[in-house]
Amino acid sequence: MLSAVYSTLPRRFSPTIFNTARKMSTANGTKAPADRSALIPFSLRLKEGRALAQDVWSIFNAANLPSDCINLGQGYMNFAPPQWVKKAAEEALNDVGANHYSHPKGRPRLRQAIKNQYGSQFNRELNTETEILVTSGANEGMYSVLVAFLEEGDEVIMFEPFFDQYLPSVTFNGGKPVYVPLHPPAHSKEKQTGKDWTVDFDELRRAITHRTKIIIINTPHNPVGKVFTKSELEQIAALAEEFNLLVMADEVYDCLLYDDEEHVRFATLPGMWDRTVTVGSAGKSFAATGWRVGWLIGPESIIRPTLAATTRIVFCTNSPLQEAVAAGLEQANSHHFFETQTKEYEERRNVLIKAFDRLGAKYTLPQGSYFILLDISDIEWPEDYPFPDSVLGRGRDFKACWFIAMEVGVSSIPVSEFYCEEHTGIGEKFARFAFCKDIDTLKTAGNRLQGLKKFLVKDGAHQ
Ligand SMILES: Cc1ncc(COP(=O)(O)O)c(C=O)c1O
Repeated sequence: MLSAVYSTLPRRFSPTIFNTARKMSTANGTKAPADRSALIPFSLRLKEGRALAQDVWSIFNAANLPSDCINLGQGYMNFAPPQWVKKAAEEALNDVGANHYSHPKGRPRLRQAIKNQYGSQFNRELNTETEILVTSGANEGMYSVLVAFLEEGDEVIMFEPFFDQYLPSVTFNGGKPVYVPLHPPAHSKEKQTGKDWTVDFDELRRAITHRTKIIIINTPHNPVGKVFTKSELEQIAALAEEFNLLVMADEVYDCLLYDDEEHVRFATLPGMWDRTVTVGSAGKSFAATGWRVGWLIGPESIIRPTLAATTRIVFCTNSPLQEAVAAGLEQANSHHFFETQTKEYEERRNVLIKAFDRLGAKYTLPQGSYFILLDISDIEWPEDYPFPDSVLGRGRDFKACWFIAMEVGVSSIPVSEFYCEEHTGIGEKFARFAFCKDIDTLKTAGNRLQGLKKFLVKDGAHQ
């Protein structure tokens, strides 16, 4: 069993290094120093959640790409949080109390600010003691929910493409991921939007077994930009009720919706409050992804066990930045912050879609979040193009993203990474471009992308 596992590990983790603690002899009989670089075998659970596989982030990383490559791959902003939120962070650093441990539930001021900002969206008076939990980013919050609720072998349904952290978070906690793909629009469809990516509800029903415990819903969706409709969410709600599922509603892009799209909070559907935990992120809301402040909102029956888990994982979230996020939420309305920010993101989105239109390439117009999926079926590269080993043997999208980065200097992320192996064929037709970048960067990227024109064939003719 172990050797089977090691044979699939990258060279760095090959079995030889596990046996080299013993002394080695050289040809002339002198003792070579023992290799002590990996004395202790690490846990095999790292293998389970693809945690050891070379991930896209390290392949499409600045170090491997041309030095002037524009990074539209990773989903973080190249601009800072608002000045008045940064000022609140500075003030907090100058306050003795705000430099020390916080309550594991989160600082009272932040919980109050979350209640004031979001209570009405949940149509209820949120209880700051029992229904709100501050976490170290949305990620740690979701991880803590899984620690709190999963038993060995419990199944967790996730829609593909999925946010890549879900997978190891589930498997590290003994859970089994079960994948249900969102089905993309037909390639022939001219104008494609997030809405055209659909759930096959029979397929979803068939994926549910007596071991299914949790379903994760991400709306607005990364990377599709889909905003789930009320009717879609109602159908999921009916299944959650029928099979008694916990619903993890990952709504971290809840403030980024375009074209007057309506964000329906899953927890507000009839009967869903009691089985739903809603996930939020200050990183997304205030362009502060490195601050690692997020939150969970839900009934006491979900928040209390999750608090027990998060207390043992991080004990508490960093204090000064909780104060800054509290100030951000308190002052957001007076600064018209979320309305302005949405308009700015809409402009950023439009710069990139205009560039894709000029290019004559197909893409999914996002209704929310800050990603655009480019349909790469029509891009054709020379047969002898020199690709590195890291992208060979992966989906066609890995090659396409590499080619685009090398040829025109704009990096993107291959979408098959967000699918299980069985469904790679669905994802490999797309590359994800993030538009959480300033307008000038996006305009330059858009101009560079025109360089792909000569590599476009009509209607995926190579397939
Ligand atoms: C869908 C989704 N959920 C959660 C997160 C994680 O948010 P945070 O940075 O607050 O941990 C991300 C970040 O990219 C995301 O795209």
